[in-house]
Amino acid sequence: MKFYLTTPLYYVNDVPHIGHAYTEVASDVFARWQRFLGNDVFFLTGTDEHGQKIEKAAIQANKPIAEMVQENAEKFKKLWNKLNISYDDFIRTTEDRHIQVVNKVLNILFENNDIYKDKYEGWYCVSCESFFPPTQIKEKKCPDCLREVEWVVEDAYFFRLSKYQNQLLEFIQRNPDFILPRFRCQEIINFIKQGLKDLNISRRREKNEWAIPLPFDQQYNLYVWVDALINYISAIDFGNKEKFNYWWPCDIHFIGKDILKFHAIIWPALLFALGIEPPRKIFAHGWWLVNGEKMSKSKGNAVDPESFVDNFGADSFRYFILRHVPFGLDGDFSYSAFVQRYNAELANDLGNLFLRISGMLEKYFFNKIPEKFDDNQDNLLQELIEEKIPLIEKGYEELAYHHILDYIWEIISAMNKYIEETAPWELAKKKKNSLNGVIYNLLEGLRIVSLLIYPFLPETSEKITNFLGEIPPHKQRREQLSWGILPAGRILKNAQVLFPRK
Ligand code: MSP
Repeated sequence: MKFYLTTPLYYVNDVPHIGHAYTEVASDVFARWQRFLGNDVFFLTGTDEHGQKIEKAAIQANKPIAEMVQENAEKFKKLWNKLNISYDDFIRTTEDRHIQVVNKVLNILFENNDIYKDKYEGWYCVSCESFFPPTQIKEKKCPDCLREVEWVVEDAYFFRLSKYQNQLLEFIQRNPDFILPRFRCQEIINFIKQGLKDLNISRRREKNEWAIPLPFDQQYNLYVWVDALINYISAIDFGNKEKFNYWWPCDIHFIGKDILKFHAIIWPALLFALGIEPPRKIFAHGWWLVNGEKMSKSKGNAVDPESFVDNFGADSFRYFILRHVPFGLDGDFSYSAFVQRYNAELANDLGNLFLRISGMLEKYFFNKIPEKFDDNQDNLLQELIEEKIPLIEKGYEELAYHHILDYIWEIISAMNKYIEETAPWELAKKKKNSLNGVIYNLLEGLRIVSLLIYPFLPETSEKITNFLGEIPPHKQRREQLSWGILPAGRILKNAQVLFPRK
């Protein structure tokens, strides 16, 4: 089965911060899980490189726009490599392949009379690249980012968004899983019910030169949000029927809650106008705050993911951002919470468990996996794992990452408890045969844990599977979650420290 998933395209007016890394890691976990299930995955990410916001940033940085855009796009790529993001394609809106599709889309809409020219009067927020009607603005402040907005009066090209209002409403009401989490759906429905206005999709060239010209009127450039949204079909080659029909509809767009209206209203309406069905799902996650406040350049409180990756490793960062806050809600980032979880859950619970098991294997069995000793006792560890796996799978269906990690850590805690309760050192002293079974069970539990953590902690997963001498190819991985696969007799050596204490 094919699975197509996307992240938003990040603005390259600045370097990446934790908010960007959040969307990216969350999408990567899902891409890895889909591959784990054996699906044919296309995971798309990239950068949003046109618009007034980018133009302004280049002026402030005193750099040619193309140079700044290139430099910052590289910084995103570099961070994604550090975070082990397994994207299949990185699209930049300044690339030819994208611009060609944008032109094609605009021509279709124009020929079908879904685009028309009229007078526009309203506010524009450069930071959000967003138009606002006069009724929504108080004291010249953007309702979303609170920055100053500018008054725009010009002839402009409009997309007939209002024409698709009823179709959209019906679609959203018929597909309760289109907008996730479900609690965000009502705000979109209410917004649509207030009445959708046609959307200004142009900027006069002199207002914003760094953008794609409208193919039917070179005096105007395309509004950057329409440009950016089209990436989701330009990357899969809209125009090449075979490729496009294979991947579309997109299975899930991962985005932050701040850009939900663009994705849940403008994007499906554009697709309706093109005669294409909307994406299957849009998941809007919450925001990372710092001490309850929004991060911003001016406050200087933006969290730099790179320093965490350098100090604690990519897996620790990936783990923390998806464990600390329920996916979908806002959360507060704090260094102390990070270190606390790192030491307690990664270094202690998981790291120690690994060293204890490998240590006992060395001490009692000279590193050789023992034969499973069948003493007809209930295997509580096996039962617990078999009970948790369906819950974990359900967790992915619901995109409840924090629950998935809770379930995995319940298994890890149960394994630690199992060591205390079975006390292998006592069994060894008494030369009990049941020691075989206990160590085998722990190794088998470890093998399954290493697979379960794979989407979240790919480096750690690989370290453990390498130790166990087993790296099953993706396509067979789902089947490898069954109990009792680890072969007896294999020699396992060189266990390494997974998470050094901080
Ligand atoms: N360029 C547009 C998206 C176009 S998609 C066709 C854009 N870019 S952005 O760089 O501003 O934001 C990209 C993503 O980062 C969004 O999903 C946004 O929600 C997320 N985050 C930016 N700051 C954030 C936090 N502080 N916390 C969590 N995520 C936030 O919007």
